Amino acid sequence: MNQIKVFAPATVANVSCGYDAMGFALSELGDEMVFTKTSDQEVRIIDIQGADLPYDADKNVVGVVAQLMLKESNSEFGLDIKIRKNFKPGSGLGSSAASAAGTAYAVNQLLDLKYDHLQLTKFAMQGEVAACGSAIADNVAACIYGGFVLVRSYDPLDIVSIPTPSELVATVIHPQIEIKTEDARKVVPQDIPVKTAIAQWANVGGLISGLHASDFELIGRSLHDYVAEPTRKKLIPHFDKVKTAATNAGALGVGISGSGPSIFALSKGMFAAKQVAEAMNGVYENTGIDYAIYVSNISKSGAREL
Ligand code: HSE
Repeated sequence: MNQIKVFAPATVANVSCGYDAMGFALSELGDEMVFTKTSDQEVRIIDIQGADLPYDADKNVVGVVAQLMLKESNSEFGLDIKIRKNFKPGSGLGSSAASAAGTAYAVNQLLDLKYDHLQLTKFAMQGEVAACGSAIADNVAACIYGGFVLVRSYDPLDIVSIPTPSELVATVIHPQIEIKTEDARKVVPQDIPVKTAIAQWANVGGLISGLHASDFELIGRSLHDYVAEPTRKKLIPHFDKVKTAATNAGALGVGISGSGPSIFALSKGMFAAKQVAEAMNGVYENTGIDYAIYVSNISKSGAREL
């Protein structure tokens, strides 16, 4: 194999109650990248479409992850890489994670390195370090494993795949303002009262249980975030209005996607998810802020060959 074209899905991290510990992959939105094997041990980014990102391999998460994997595997090859970003960095939809995880998947396949999903997640987390300064696993794990994932532990890294009810559909509104993850992490409180922690971890348990049992009511009751949302929502224009409108339109639950500004909702079935999209649209259409709305199934597979 000399070349591989991959799709790396956009991801919704946190899923309200699971700050840094939960995520899921979208099936209808993601980046595409083409990796070509070369013989000179260099990593070259030769084309970037859809975003203004650095071509310097040391400064682009794609280059960082690719170089790390070539080094770790003592590879005699190099790579020429083309990137097509289909959603913007700073969206809260795991843009850097799609770049990092898509690269980890592609390099593994192209050079037949035989790393497993956990190891690929570790490589991709180094891309997150380059992007935002923190080795966060929720987006990259969702992008590699697909479906819903739980980061049960960071040290040692332990990723658990959670079943995804097939009727669960995501609606996402992406207001086209950029929020840097690094900045959004600074507003999350570092200390929380035990009472808040109890409410939060009880909801994580409820969400996991609801996903296992396809109990949509329980999933909905569990989609609350008492840790990050109260401070982060202030960075997102009209967050409360979108949440209220989407809930009134029938969403099971609504929250900030990753570090924002995107807002996600989960619904039972495509019809309900489209009603939620209309409600979100109703809030944003006269605000003067550009936005995009996506309605997507949950992707059961992660990064994959096209
Ligand atoms: N869990 C991370 C955060 C995701 O919320 O900061 C970053 O997209």
